[in-house]
Amino acid sequence: MKHLLKLGDLTPVEITEILDLADVLKAERKQGIKRPILAGKSLGMIFQKSSTRTRVSFEVGIYELGGQALFLSPRDLQIGRGEPVEDTARVLSRYLDGIMIRTFAQSEVEDLAKYGSIPIINGLTDYCHPCQVLADLQTIRERKGGLEGLKMCYVGDGNNMANSLIVGGIKMGMNVSTACPKGYEPDSDIMKWAGETGRYLCSESIEEAVSGADVVYTDVWASMGQEDEAAERKKIFKNYCVNAETMSYAAKDAMVLHCLPAHRGEEIAADVIEAHADEIFEEAENRLHAQKAVMVLTMGEG
Ligand code: CP
Ligand code: NVA
Repeated sequence: MKHLLKLGDLTPVEITEILDLADVLKAERKQGIKRPILAGKSLGMIFQKSSTRTRVSFEVGIYELGGQALFLSPRDLQIGRGEPVEDTARVLSRYLDGIMIRTFAQSEVEDLAKYGSIPIINGLTDYCHPCQVLADLQTIRERKGGLEGLKMCYVGDGNNMANSLIVGGIKMGMNVSTACPKGYEPDSDIMKWAGETGRYLCSESIEEAVSGADVVYTDVWASMGQEDEAAERKKIFKNYCVNAETMSYAAKDAMVLHCLPAHRGEEIAADVIEAHADEIFEEAENRLHAQKAVMVLTMGEG
């Protein structure tokens, strides 16, 4: 695997390879085994948006693999003063062994890969969040024993998380549904691609979309960069909440996942988050294991 730009670029076999390695690395870590697979390697981490999980899990992850991370803020980089991505990519490729980037436009991530010569890992864009969904798939697989044939429903804004969940879920043989208000559906090309598999449903109705779901997923109503729309979005999304009523439509043993950070009382009720805290915080833990696997498979010697 050369890069992780979006899940659409990966085959089901490649996704399975990441999940399998993530499981191995997780088991080894629990036994205190640390393998310096990336000894001497440096990962640059460019963050144009805030982060708790992504930053800490990548930084700890590369350290545990024997390498080091450099936190690169746009406030300090020349990229923040307008140096072109083409130049930044070519320069950083001469120092680093990989770059993780969190930014706004997906094109910036794709351009880093196009002009640079080292692996690029997408740590979230407005379009997608592949690292999160790899951890989500790992969490579902370990708790449900597999992925194929399960139904996953995403409730809320058709944002970066919705886009990656649809692609990841469909690629791994799941049935995926989204409950989104009109005008806030996921990316139209992704919906079209998913629809052609016959395993995707898009509905405005929570009851219809959640019906029989094995996994119920939600995310914030206003993503990073949409702070100005937050008040308006609170009105539009007020019924798109994972609460006791929403869960009454799901399968009895349904899991609840949330990429975090969560807004209790908005997209998820406080009692639902607490009832499913084991799953949700294991999901957050799995960011570390899944990303270590991604780094090994992209930055490792092969
Ligand atoms: N879920 C997630 O990506 O969290 P952070 O924004 O804290 O990195
Ligand atoms: N949709 C959210 C995800 C945060 C992990 C955002 O982009 O802010």
